[in-house]
Amino acid sequence: MKAIEIVAPGELRITERPLPGPPAAGEAVVRIRAAGICGSDVHILHGRNPFATYPRIIGHEAAGEVCRIGEGVHGLGPGDAVAVDNVFACGACYACRAGRPNVCRQVSVLGVHRDGVFQEYIAVPAANLHKLPAGIPWDQAATVETFSIGAQAVSRGQVRRGESVLICGAGPTGLVSLQAARRLGARIAVTDTLDARLDRARALGADLALNPVRDDVVARIMDFTGGEGANVIIEATGVVSVLEQAAARLASQAGRIVVLGFPAEAAKIVPADIMRRELDIRGSRLNNRQFPAVIAWLAGREIDPAAIISHTLPFTAVAEGMRLFADDPAAACKIILTF
Ligand SMILES: NC(=O)c1ccc[n+]([C@@H]2O[C@H](COP(=O)([O-])OP(=O)(O)OC[C@H]3O[C@@H](n4cnc5c(N)ncnc54)[C@H](O)[C@@H]3O)[C@@H](O)[C@H]2O)c1
Ligand SMILES: [Zn+2]
Ligand SMILES: [Zn+2]
Repeated sequence: MKAIEIVAPGELRITERPLPGPPAAGEAVVRIRAAGICGSDVHILHGRNPFATYPRIIGHEAAGEVCRIGEGVHGLGPGDAVAVDNVFACGACYACRAGRPNVCRQVSVLGVHRDGVFQEYIAVPAANLHKLPAGIPWDQAATVETFSIGAQAVSRGQVRRGESVLICGAGPTGLVSLQAARRLGARIAVTDTLDARLDRARALGADLALNPVRDDVVARIMDFTGGEGANVIIEATGVVSVLEQAAARLASQAGRIVVLGFPAEAAKIVPADIMRRELDIRGSRLNNRQFPAVIAWLAGREIDPAAIISHTLPFTAVAEGMRLFADDPAAACKIILTF
């Protein structure tokens, strides 16, 4: 079978790998049908992901078809369409005991710490597989992991009906956060420096779309929120100054700031701003068992996966997909590889 491997930074190769053997107890072998390209795949290719080791078969956003199950696997059988949860945890550390395996001390992510889903077949624990309803096209099914990031972000931000939410960044991550917040009945403003991405946000129901290159974001958000500031801010740009402005100028009293972007630079945040408004500044990493919820949203058509997919390419075009993602953000959004 074929697999997409980053041999070393800058060196992508489509290699031949042996098929997985019979699945171990508790595992299933999945035939991958579609998988999304994510910023982290591109960062691994460019040697800019601090968590990755090489050589690595990348990819962590996939849907496929179960072909074989190991002993003790129940409720899942050959032919079932599944989405693959990419998060593995130790089950014993403080975070795991606290019910937050996504921030396990030894968290292991498909395609980052262990070989991922950009291959034709993969053996994974059945506990990481979630059955999909019938009739979901494979490319859309491959976005479940992406939406799980948005589900996690609105959960960390405790977004409630009627609240004002500011989403900074309308890349794939911002757009899934927007859809997750919208279905909760929030009023949503989005910022991005690319108008093409703001157009996607508007099409997905953003109430206000601002381009900081042109618009006075502070004034417009104050106007949008009746002078209160945004109740929840989701930082999905990875730009330090955006987080600084959120804490200093944009969050409301009792506001929550959810940090998705993870640049390595330090941000300057004034403690008095946090204290005076009793801000919660919260990280959001991967997803904490959000797959069942996202799959229910998909089944109920509460989210629009097609709206974030810009390209669907055969996996043999992976290098082109990575290039588009990295170099042409106005045209590219979620790029799906089919297997
Ligand atoms: N925490 C997690 O689990 C998780 C998961 C996926 C992605 N991420 C991170 O979230 C961030 C967004 O991911 P993505 O895949 O959507 O990336 P992306 O690069 O496609 O999106 C970022 C967007 O921010 C916009 N932007 C840049 N500067 C801006 C500014 N000053 N104001 C407003 N918008 C600005 C860009 O134009 C772009 O559209 C990245 O930093 C990524 O590493 C985190
Ligand atoms: Zn991803
Ligand atoms: Zn753990």
